[in-house]
Amino acid sequence: MKPKYLLPSLLLSFALTPLMTKAEPIENIGHIHNLTFAGENQQTLILGAHIGLFSYEQNSAKQISKESFDVMGLSREPVSGALYASGHPAKGGNLGLLRSDDEGKTFRSISKGINGPVDFHQLAVSSVDPKIVYGVHDGLQVSADGGINWKEGGKLPPKLLQLAASDIKPNKLFAASEQGLFVSDNNGDSWQRILSYPTTSVLVNKGSIFAFVVGKGLVVAEEAEEMQWREINNTFGSQVLLDFAITADGHRLVGLSQYGALLESVDQGRNWQSLPAKPLPVTVQEKNGQIIFQTNCQSCHGIAGVGETYSTEGLTTKGYIFAPALNGSAHAWHHTDDQLLKTIMEGSPRTSKMPAWKATLSKDDALDAIAYLKSLWGETQKRCQGPKHMDRACIGGK
Ligand code: HEC
Repeated sequence: MKPKYLLPSLLLSFALTPLMTKAEPIENIGHIHNLTFAGENQQTLILGAHIGLFSYEQNSAKQISKESFDVMGLSREPVSGALYASGHPAKGGNLGLLRSDDEGKTFRSISKGINGPVDFHQLAVSSVDPKIVYGVHDGLQVSADGGINWKEGGKLPPKLLQLAASDIKPNKLFAASEQGLFVSDNNGDSWQRILSYPTTSVLVNKGSIFAFVVGKGLVVAEEAEEMQWREINNTFGSQVLLDFAITADGHRLVGLSQYGALLESVDQGRNWQSLPAKPLPVTVQEKNGQIIFQTNCQSCHGIAGVGETYSTEGLTTKGYIFAPALNGSAHAWHHTDDQLLKTIMEGSPRTSKMPAWKATLSKDDALDAIAYLKSLWGETQKRCQGPKHMDRACIGGK
């Protein structure tokens, strides 16, 4: 297909919906799709959400974009700090490629893209030549002039999840996909697989390639060297990171799990905790429960109940049952305290891997473990525990 040339004057209009000006609890902003750091020294965490662009400050979210739209693609141009975005407004229709030069307060339309207006779910900008922009909408599209004109790129790896541009070569990019991590040296015309495990996200920062690999966790390799992968952390339990962002100095990382939860590391990815941080156990019961959990349960159910971490063995063994997350992310909260107590004391009828604990633990110890686990749940989960998890009114806040 011939490249289509579109003029920036093909401007699109936004559906203007009222701006949320006050800081909101993070649960109120709906689905978060992507993350980046912006502002001076890349210190401000920006969230691309279902209802616009937000900054994350003091454990709450504040809308920064004047327009409310579902931010499906978001990428920071590394040289000028401009933000590229794509998505659709609530009333439908796509927005094509948008650009902000004021850290997300206002966006202007750059182009419709090929067969547009497009809704790029993946967006990446080269740091070597920031005029090179990649977007994915019905296949790969490549722009060599900052997103104004586009041409169709090569065939993408199947089940693509994320793109990241190289820090070394202008036409080089990485693709995270359910079938592995791929690299292309020719703007995506052809691809070579460099990791064969499912890879859910990839990020390039100052020559380091970070990837989240199912079964290996967060890994890193230096692009300039032989690309030796080093494991940074593999204790994510049942969580996988669908996106993550990193500050300019590389110390703070924030990730987004498939459950829509934010996770944070302040030591270059070595240790992770929920963002906002979960409160520490308060009551005597919760504190005792934490000790019971760490001694007897954590080896399978993960640190702070994040679930058993995906392993090659588990992923390749038929009928393997992973120990589920017991924090709020999976569905432990669909059970009443009595049901949880029964599973703990009697074990699982499905697998001896979850043994009966009644010979080891007293009923009070088991109840303490439950109290500790519930301290890790969110407000909705605590309020709507058990049969009420089916009650829409309860989930909706009543
Ligand atoms: C050797 C691994 C292992 C250990 C140790 C272990 N569990 Fe489990 N647990 C599992 C597995 C596997 C399942 C899933 C069983 C199934 O799906 O039938 C499970 C399921 C559960 C469930 C049901 C969750 C749900 O959503 O239905 C609870 C509650 C639970 N475990 C609590 C505990 C507690 C509390 C401890 C410590 C006292 C513990 N487990 C120790 C492996 C383990």
